[in-house]
Amino acid sequence: MRPRFVYGAGMTIAFVTELEAQKATLLAPMIAAGRVSLAEGPAGDATQLLQIALANEINVSELAALWMPSTPELDVKLAFARQAGDEAGHFQLVADRLTVLGFDVASFRPGDNPMFQYLRSLSTTVERIAAGLFTLESIAYAVNENFMAFCAQRGDDETVRIYREYIQPDEQAHQQLGQRLLAKYATTPELQRVARETVARLLEIAGTSRAQAAARMGTACFPGC
Ligand SMILES: [Fe+2]
Ligand SMILES: [Fe+2]
Repeated sequence: MRPRFVYGAGMTIAFVTELEAQKATLLAPMIAAGRVSLAEGPAGDATQLLQIALANEINVSELAALWMPSTPELDVKLAFARQAGDEAGHFQLVADRLTVLGFDVASFRPGDNPMFQYLRSLSTTVERIAAGLFTLESIAYAVNENFMAFCAQRGDDETVRIYREYIQPDEQAHQQLGQRLLAKYATTPELQRVARETVARLLEIAGTSRAQAAARMGTACFPGC
């Protein structure tokens, strides 16, 4: 008797590996843009760049909190709860740093952007994991590395330390959580197609909005979430 085809764990892991490669390819232009800015030397206003971090951290915290009650799978629900809390912690760290640098955080009003509008529109668990944990957190980690190099160039070692010790380890953990949850839930060809398209779409929107913001700020080295 011929064995019945089973879409098993091995294929799911191969899928996540393939999706990682796709993500890395689409992320490369964003990383390269930051490197070009770094080569050009310090530009932009440090407190203005940290305000972008403030906006991103609060937006992603709200997004994860929004998704928590409407995500039925317990482990994914808890991943979003943890992300919401971690990002709130990042907001506080950046806010404290901005206060030291003389910015009045009470006057801060987070703006919205097309990337978060797209993210809020996602209704299925696989889309949310693919976008909110797996991709958004990889973008954050990559662009934060460029931002840290930019801060080091300006001699702002304290901001570098905050990112190195607190924020980056969390962003990496969120991304790894996304990998594990995708391997668990994107288990059919159809779900994997949805995941692939979601990763590509988010990176496309993020690439466009970051390029526009870079033109406005005078540098591509601004942080993510
Ligand atoms: Fe994060
Ligand atoms: Fe964050």
